[in-house]
Amino acid sequence: AEDGYDMWLRYQPVANDSLRQEYQSQFQQVIAEGNSQTIKIAASELQRGLSGLLKKTVAQTSNVNAMGVVIGTPANSKLIASLNLKKRLASVGDEGYLIQKSRIGNADQIVIAANTDVGVLYGSFHLLRLLQTEQSLNNISIASSPKLQYRVVNHWDNVNRLVERGYAGLSLWDWGTLPELKSPRYEDYARINASLGINGTVINNVNADPRLMSDQFLKKIATLAEVFRPYGIKLYLSINYNAPRAYGDLDTADPLDPRVQAWWKARAEKIYSYIPDFGGYLVKADSEGQPGPQGYGRNHADGANMLADTLKPFKGVVFWRAFVYHPDIGDRFRGAYDEFTPLDGKFKENVILQIKNGPIDFQPREPVSPLFGSLKKTNMMMEVQVTQEYFGFATHLAYQGPLFEEALKTDLLVKGKGSTLANILSGQLNKATNKNPRTGMAAVINPGTDRNWTGHPFVQSSWYAFGRMAWDYSLTSDAIADEWLRMTFSNQEKFIAPIKKIMMDSREAGVNYRSPLGLTHLYSQGDHYGPAPWTADMGRADWNAVYYHRAAEDGIGFNRTATGSNALAQYPAELAKQYADLNTVPEDLMLWFHHLPWDYKMKSGKTLWAELVDKYYSGVTQVRTMQTEWNKMEGQIDAERFAHVKALLAVQERDAVRWRDSCVVYFQSISKLPIPDGYEKPAHD
Ligand code: GCU
Repeated sequence: AEDGYDMWLRYQPVANDSLRQEYQSQFQQVIAEGNSQTIKIAASELQRGLSGLLKKTVAQTSNVNAMGVVIGTPANSKLIASLNLKKRLASVGDEGYLIQKSRIGNADQIVIAANTDVGVLYGSFHLLRLLQTEQSLNNISIASSPKLQYRVVNHWDNVNRLVERGYAGLSLWDWGTLPELKSPRYEDYARINASLGINGTVINNVNADPRLMSDQFLKKIATLAEVFRPYGIKLYLSINYNAPRAYGDLDTADPLDPRVQAWWKARAEKIYSYIPDFGGYLVKADSEGQPGPQGYGRNHADGANMLADTLKPFKGVVFWRAFVYHPDIGDRFRGAYDEFTPLDGKFKENVILQIKNGPIDFQPREPVSPLFGSLKKTNMMMEVQVTQEYFGFATHLAYQGPLFEEALKTDLLVKGKGSTLANILSGQLNKATNKNPRTGMAAVINPGTDRNWTGHPFVQSSWYAFGRMAWDYSLTSDAIADEWLRMTFSNQEKFIAPIKKIMMDSREAGVNYRSPLGLTHLYSQGDHYGPAPWTADMGRADWNAVYYHRAAEDGIGFNRTATGSNALAQYPAELAKQYADLNTVPEDLMLWFHHLPWDYKMKSGKTLWAELVDKYYSGVTQVRTMQTEWNKMEGQIDAERFAHVKALLAVQERDAVRWRDSCVVYFQSISKLPIPDGYEKPAHD
């Protein structure tokens, strides 16, 4: 039965007969010189993949006279060394690879060459992907290397195995049976990530439990690191800033106190004694009640640098999160920029600020965080969310590729046109002021003990999209959806075309039935699943929905212009101007920045009220279209996954109606305007 466990590594037989025959004649065997575990893994992945795809057993040999695939590095493979690839290899760096056709001995071989073993592994997954997506290998010549350095997944897993915002079962890490039992899932988890080029994992929740840094846990964690290592994946831990106090060793965690520094130095030494290639720390400090340097009168740079110094001798890094806001700042939007911009240039070189894509919190649509435009001398990486905290958990179909792409392509106009977020993340834009930046992207993912890892089968696609874009942010979400569907379901055009359309529309549908035109955070508080735009009694202003939409008799939206919170001034001048001007602000971001009368004229000619209603209704219509299209696929894919997605879409439709009706009826109680003709009546329970 198809249970989704294999994700996009299913290796089902190539359905196209002539192509399968072509592949069969090329891939008669695998030749892998080199003895490292990584090379062995690459070779056996190729064997496994090719055997499945070609419907025949593909063996490992050393026979150069038959056609096959030859993998290795010039250092560990004589065959690869004989090809004189030095120059081309120099261009792909430590993690990149070449895939090409080369004559060796008497046969044409497909060669996967790299400078390092992990590069060979990445190249092997790439070759398999070409077959999985039925690409021709004629004249194949690929040189690929990652555009970002730190491509990291974040787990929000607690020690008790509950996963914050996870929705797909319990944590994968079974602390009770580690280190004795190495669940086979640990290795499959590593394969899944390595297939995308993901090279780091933070295994525990940012709301961190200090106990993970104890001997008891480090023994267990070292076992995980051992499983991940040959896959090129470094292990990182989220830390709790008050750990020296939590352990009862000190009564302070002040980063400038030498005792605190000594404590963290000793702790780093301990961790590295268990895990010699430990990646470093992820830190949520002075954020949502978590402890941090500000509790001791210090700033984020003081806090991050102290930790960075203790990791530096071991080549470790600190991912310091910029997700900060306080109830007293008036506009939550301003939080990260106001706290971090003055610290630009103050962070050590092995600190990377991890900044959420938007200024608030993984909303269905946010403008990009203005912090990306203000920092010039600081290492930055973008944090996105694969887990669907604000997108219907593991119940709604909501491919996040378009959201990631929208963020990466946003032009912040810092130095004229072309100052895209991607160019900022790559270090290109600030190369004069930050010469050797550390770059990266992180995603909060949700795998758990659910058989298919992610709950909704399509949440896998967002994990996939994150990994592919972290490797190459110039890939489009459309191209990635195409790949993922082919690998995960089928290469049949009559399946791909309509279902790709569903995926590409799914994010916008989710925006439309929840918070169109730049509305945000209308969720029921705490769980973040259903609608509660009326929430006004949370005790903390910035946890109330009414704080975000500001609907009143005179209109709706958050005024962030100079006459309001002036958060717009945090953007580079050109972008601020664009967003401040009603003629140039994109309508899908409009209410993020402007408070407008209900009868404000939209580009469509409709009033703002009528447009808002229309968007809510169109969101539901989109979900119904998704259902109709999906239903047509019966019989084209396995019955299990067909039925699973079909059922979830029915729940999604029910929820979308609930969202629409709750919001429309609530806003109507304020606008006092009728729902225009032609729309079905809101359902009342
Ligand atoms: C959101 C989320 C929390 C999480 C926080 C964070 O607020 O709801 O569960 O801890 O983000 O990113 O730190």
